[in-house]
Amino acid sequence: MSLDSTARRRMILGWFVNYMPTAWNRPWAGPNVTGWTDGQFYIDMARALERSSIDLIMLEDSSVVPENFGGTMEAEFKATVKAPKHDPLPLAAAIAAATTSLGIVTTMSTSLYPPHRIAQLQATLDQLSDGRAGWNVVTSFEDLAARNIGLDTLWEHDERYARADEYLRAVSSLWRAGAVPDARGRAVFEGRSFALDAPGTTPLVQRRPVLCQAGGSSSGMDFAAKWADLIVSVPSGIDAMKAYRDGIRRRAEAAGTDPDATKVLYMVTPILGESVAEAEDKEARMYSAEGDNFLRRLVQLSNIAEIDFAEYDLDAPIPEDATTNGAQSILEGMKKMTRGSSLREAMSGKGESTSLRLVGTPESVADEMEAAIDQVGGDGFLLFHGGGGLISRHYLDDVLDGLVPELQRRGLAQSGYGPGTFHDRLTNDTLRSTT
Ligand SMILES: Cc1cc2nc3c(=O)[nH]c(=O)nc-3n(C[C@H](O)[C@H](O)[C@H](O)COP(=O)(O)O)c2cc1C
Repeated sequence: MSLDSTARRRMILGWFVNYMPTAWNRPWAGPNVTGWTDGQFYIDMARALERSSIDLIMLEDSSVVPENFGGTMEAEFKATVKAPKHDPLPLAAAIAAATTSLGIVTTMSTSLYPPHRIAQLQATLDQLSDGRAGWNVVTSFEDLAARNIGLDTLWEHDERYARADEYLRAVSSLWRAGAVPDARGRAVFEGRSFALDAPGTTPLVQRRPVLCQAGGSSSGMDFAAKWADLIVSVPSGIDAMKAYRDGIRRRAEAAGTDPDATKVLYMVTPILGESVAEAEDKEARMYSAEGDNFLRRLVQLSNIAEIDFAEYDLDAPIPEDATTNGAQSILEGMKKMTRGSSLREAMSGKGESTSLRLVGTPESVADEMEAAIDQVGGDGFLLFHGGGGLISRHYLDDVLDGLVPELQRRGLAQSGYGPGTFHDRLTNDTLRSTT
């Protein structure tokens, strides 16, 4: 079997997942709803992704259990939105041992880890996985997280990115130090230089791990365009997707980076059926404003907007005089949505925030993905089935046995991996198919 490449650019496909409970209070939860902690579901998932030639798995992380809904952690655990959760790094090592070609992206925060720890851990993962490590660079935004590092609040938004820029220069020097010993002298962060950790004394398999980022703000986009190989995003609709990608490419060019080497993925949650009607019915049930689903959604919104929705009457509009210290624009948007109806009604049928609503058969969804990438100009999609408590083998099968083969048949997705490292395969995005 040989790998042939054609001139057509393919979609890059990734899957974003939380190391949290899998589906447990919904259909097709599987027989072992409490067994998520051993990581086996996610290791099996990584193997399934690799069988389908998916480019990468991306493991989410955050370090707090929010208390926005009802002022306690109780609802978080009940709804399994952000907790309970395990650390993705050891899971990444187990996934590396169980796979050979899948890119493995782990999330680590520049606000919470000292630079030499990330340099060392990512170098180790890169060597363990033979050149398949990626780092999702986040700066953290929850003030609760600050307590874990002895602070009351985190740095201001733009200052977090300014620190992250200095941070990336420092870790890059540490990674270069394996090959260029005097690079270590430039590994300085906040006025302090670092001693070299052992994994940094041998060159990484990749020049550096694949750098992934999700800057949405102007300073975030500047940072992403300067540093990232892979950008994950959720602009809503084709026009916003195109504007986002064009903005990143302009910024990359201004920063002296090749825009074609910076890949942008859009987050989507395809809902698939044997007919469009069946898929729409599934969607309506998935996002109905009933019971556990509704609580989950409220907790999620409370986290995003920093509004305690536990204080509101769910069957009435949001009062016009309601205020928040958090995201004013989200509260104003919610008020508008509930005027003349109720919070419950306004939220009925609303799913995760994604770039495109993809609901239909494998064929109709592949049509929409193809049209979107053609209009936007590139580069691929980040699949996601919501946060904790939602993913099931049943959903994975819908996508991996239904949608992905349809994309492969059309020559839109790869049916085998190209040679080299994770980074090599990302930048070589002409279609590779097994023939
Ligand atoms: C697909 C995607 C995945 C993200 N994953 C994480 C994560 O695992 N941990 C985290 O703290 N933030 C995560 N974020 C938040 C981003 O790092 C970033 O803060 C957010 O996109 C807002 O952009 P801004 O910081 O430029 O305002 C993610 C964002 C997106 C769009």
